[in-house]
Amino acid sequence: MSNSLISLKEISKSNLVKILGNIKKLKNKKSLDKHSGKTVGLLFEKFSTRTRLSFESAISKLGAYPLFINKDDTQLSRGESISETSRMFSLYLDALVFRTDSHSKIVKFDENSSIPIVNALSDFEHPTQIISDIFTIVEHFKTKPLNKLKILYVGDSNNIANSFAFAAGKLGMNMEFCCPKKYNKSIKKILLNYPKLKISNDLLSASNNVDVIYTDVWTSMGMEKENKIRLKDFKKYQINKDILNNTNKNSVFMHCLPAHVGEEVTQDVLNSKKSIIYKQAENKLYTAMAIIDYVLS
Ligand code: CP
Ligand code: NVA
Repeated sequence: MSNSLISLKEISKSNLVKILGNIKKLKNKKSLDKHSGKTVGLLFEKFSTRTRLSFESAISKLGAYPLFINKDDTQLSRGESISETSRMFSLYLDALVFRTDSHSKIVKFDENSSIPIVNALSDFEHPTQIISDIFTIVEHFKTKPLNKLKILYVGDSNNIANSFAFAAGKLGMNMEFCCPKKYNKSIKKILLNYPKLKISNDLLSASNNVDVIYTDVWTSMGMEKENKIRLKDFKKYQINKDILNNTNKNSVFMHCLPAHVGEEVTQDVLNSKKSIIYKQAENKLYTAMAIIDYVLS
């Protein structure tokens, strides 16, 4: 059985806590020559800056070799099946970091693989981002326990929201999801299993006095055809100075990036003292190290 990381729904609470603890250790250490001789592939079907670079760098900092695979150069792009490709990758690699346009594809890849697969974003989840962001929240608030913080996610019920909901449910976080009704289906379904998590659609009341306000793009990669209608439907869900001023005195603003400035967030919020977006981006490196160490160990 390989140690894959496909979904935060599947991972045990103890393994999640173990990874979070290891991020801190690796952030202090910066490198660890523990996995030399191993090769970790990176297969990306969608664009990426942060996730790709942080994983490539993390793999080499752990002593392993990062092998970026251009999907258009493989037989996958000429119709070879996912299952056959997965079997072949298992012969040559020790692990694979995979960003895909379809969650069912990564599940199938994993089912046919004898090496661990890491989900580097699918249309349904972005687990490595949320592990990193939870680490950033804990790091920022230092002595205040995670479950004592009021955390609000605003926006689309997308891959970021879904992974957040699974992690929040598992870790007993005090979290609310504020989303237009038309777009809340996926999060509503996940929350059936976590009755303590809340869902709402009134941003002003939801943002009142929260410690963390987090948002993501209204139109995720692959949904560009819906962009025009989404701009209209999400108009009242922008994080601007008025909304930020409605959060508590010591609150922080978070975004996984890239941001669509002027849509889900204004430039002044991104630049404000409360914004910890670059801490989030930096911590993706140490998170990638902890995740690769976890799957290879
Ligand atoms: N946050 C994130 O996953 O960014 P990239 O798409 O640049 O990897
Ligand atoms: N929800 C966004 C996240 C990007 C990191 C997307 O899927 O495009």
